[in-house]
Amino acid sequence: MHNEAIREAARALFPGGVNSPVRSFRSVGGSPVPIVRGQAGHVFDAEGERYIDLQGAFGPLLLGHAHPAVVEVIQQTAANGTAFGALTPAEAELGQRIAAACGLERLRFVNSGTEATMTAIRLARAATGRDIVVKFDGNYHGHSDGLLVKAGSGVATLGLSDSAGVPAAIAGLTAVLPYNDVPALEAWFAAHPGDTAAVIVESVAGNMGLVEPEPRFLAALQEVPRAHGALLIADEVITGFRLRYGLSGVLPDADLFCLGKIIGGGLPVGAFGGRADLMSLIAPEGPVYQAGTLSGNPLVMAAGIATLDVLATGEPYRRAEKLAAHLENGLRAASKRGETSASVVRRGSMLTLFFRPEPPRDYAEARESDTTAFGDFHRGMLEHGVLLPPSQFETWFVSAAHTEDDIDHVVQAAHQVLREAGAGGWR
Ligand SMILES: Cc1ncc(COP(=O)(O)O)c(C=O)c1O
Repeated sequence: MHNEAIREAARALFPGGVNSPVRSFRSVGGSPVPIVRGQAGHVFDAEGERYIDLQGAFGPLLLGHAHPAVVEVIQQTAANGTAFGALTPAEAELGQRIAAACGLERLRFVNSGTEATMTAIRLARAATGRDIVVKFDGNYHGHSDGLLVKAGSGVATLGLSDSAGVPAAIAGLTAVLPYNDVPALEAWFAAHPGDTAAVIVESVAGNMGLVEPEPRFLAALQEVPRAHGALLIADEVITGFRLRYGLSGVLPDADLFCLGKIIGGGLPVGAFGGRADLMSLIAPEGPVYQAGTLSGNPLVMAAGIATLDVLATGEPYRRAEKLAAHLENGLRAASKRGETSASVVRRGSMLTLFFRPEPPRDYAEARESDTTAFGDFHRGMLEHGVLLPPSQFETWFVSAAHTEDDIDHVVQAAHQVLREAGAGGWR
């Protein structure tokens, strides 16, 4: 089947021709690439075209596509049955490994990052007896009703700051503050003492492009909510096991942590956990209901264990970070225009090239990026066989399976594309 035939079939069936909005390429123009195969740092479309993949399935694939150890364990596990709706040893094993690596007393597995954050908030409300949740402009925590307020990436790309269909009464329980803004955080709690159940935050923001948290913001996050009896929920769905083995370490004093992506080895997963006294409020031990037919699924657990086995050596982190640093330097040079250049923000193996001279501090600044230039750049890179995430407001993911040649190719392509009309004209 040809790419266009697949797209056409999908357009007839799925809104926007996709099953998750950013995949539609709406914000960059051009057509989504139907992928039939992935191998290490590459993906292949239906016509056999190869791309260096820096989208990385939006984060889970630190080991790259089809890592042999992960594929093998999925095949072996599948041969013994794919779902039981019952306790399995793999759940306990992966749970123990994650708990130990992350310093979580207890946790629960779910099927997505959305479920993890949604349930962590339900738990925080139950624990505090309060309703209000504070989130930050441009942070994305999945698509549950109360969190689809100024939510970055896919939502930003489509120009929706809120989703239709979210009742005002629910959106009204979410307060949105600017990221990295300590006075705004302090002012919120000064004006609303005793109302806030939790503050939820991306430990390192990855959904408005990569935006670094400032040290004083991190310090305030760990002090101010607690001083007012509110919990801090660190969303580590992207950063958990990505920046290092375990949690990112950016918000060590958070009360609850949300995980996803890498811990499922490329299969659907989420988890949330933290202090035992909080987690004991979850059903059936406590009154906070949460459940899932496929939660703790044996294939997912097996893929997660195999992935963590490889990551625990530390080598994939060293390798991916070295490659990402090489990419960062190459992109800086490629985007140089006289005294100025586009800004490259990198943390470990995560990176964003912003079409603005300074790295943004918050979502308002990220939105000042030249998204038309990014669209031109994205299409140009695709023509050179490089698949980037299809939005200025996403993070690129380098994997340990990329090669030096891959990164050299990306850098050379960037040089060429940025010199061509269009992306080269960014202001
Ligand atoms: C920081 C963060 N939290 C939560 C989510 C939601 O995870 P999922 O897409 O698995 O529901 C995402 C998804 O990209 C994310 O980046």
